[in-house]
Amino acid sequence: MNGDQRPVCVFDSGLGGLTVVRELMGAMPSENIVYLGDSARVPYGTKSLETVRRFALEDASFLVRHNPKLLVVACNTASAAAIDILRDNLDTPVVDVIRPGAKAAVDFTDGPVGVIATEATIASGAYVQAIAQYAPEREVCTASCPLLVPIVEEGRSDDDPIVLHVLGDYLGELQRFRPAALILGCTHYPLLAGAISKLMGPETELISSAKAAADQARAMLADLPVQADGAAGTLKCFTTGNPQRFAQLGQRFLGGKIDNVAFVGTDELEIR
Ligand code: DGL
Repeated sequence: MNGDQRPVCVFDSGLGGLTVVRELMGAMPSENIVYLGDSARVPYGTKSLETVRRFALEDASFLVRHNPKLLVVACNTASAAAIDILRDNLDTPVVDVIRPGAKAAVDFTDGPVGVIATEATIASGAYVQAIAQYAPEREVCTASCPLLVPIVEEGRSDDDPIVLHVLGDYLGELQRFRPAALILGCTHYPLLAGAISKLMGPETELISSAKAAADQARAMLADLPVQADGAAGTLKCFTTGNPQRFAQLGQRFLGGKIDNVAFVGTDELEIR
């Protein structure tokens, strides 16, 4: 067999990171992917940054046992809390979702940028800092949207009146701010893109951090002699929650069937 068959490993607090896997599979269809969803401890977005940092280190230490060529932190909250400590502690190259999302937004427009994300991600200031790094004078407006994760997990769709009502409440300030680009800074928000776009109007471009991270992952691998051969890649999932539930609900996030899910206990994520 040709090529480097080591997997691209991805972790998230639960199912949401499958929106990133979907983009990775589109960008790099030959790569084998190993995914860990820490569903037993979801949500990360309401927890302290210290707790999320510890969980992220544990998630990464489990995945490193699979000898990855690249680690993708699909969770925005984990990226916000732990990207520096992960990069300092791992030999594997690491891609986060925040810097690529911020860069995609400032590359798209010279105008004002909005960000929506979990409470912990917004409180960390990570998106504001990343935008300032690429465009120091840029006007930014942020909003945390804590109810959106449970609403998406419950299977509510874009045209559900509850979704529109909750979004209407969260997006009020951003509607007045009129951003040229709005970063969807949470794994779950791409599933509500239709409703968000409807409320923000055609002048606001939605920027998916998931897509931006997948593009960055592809660019990083292209610079290294580690591509897989041309055969179709595989997806192997681990969850700290219920594998049947993961396979069933995860399809909506992945946009396809999930066959290969195994349980892993949170005690097995201990740092070795
Ligand atoms: N994966 C999280 C994120 O992207 C959303 C779900 C959670 O709060 O754990 O921030």
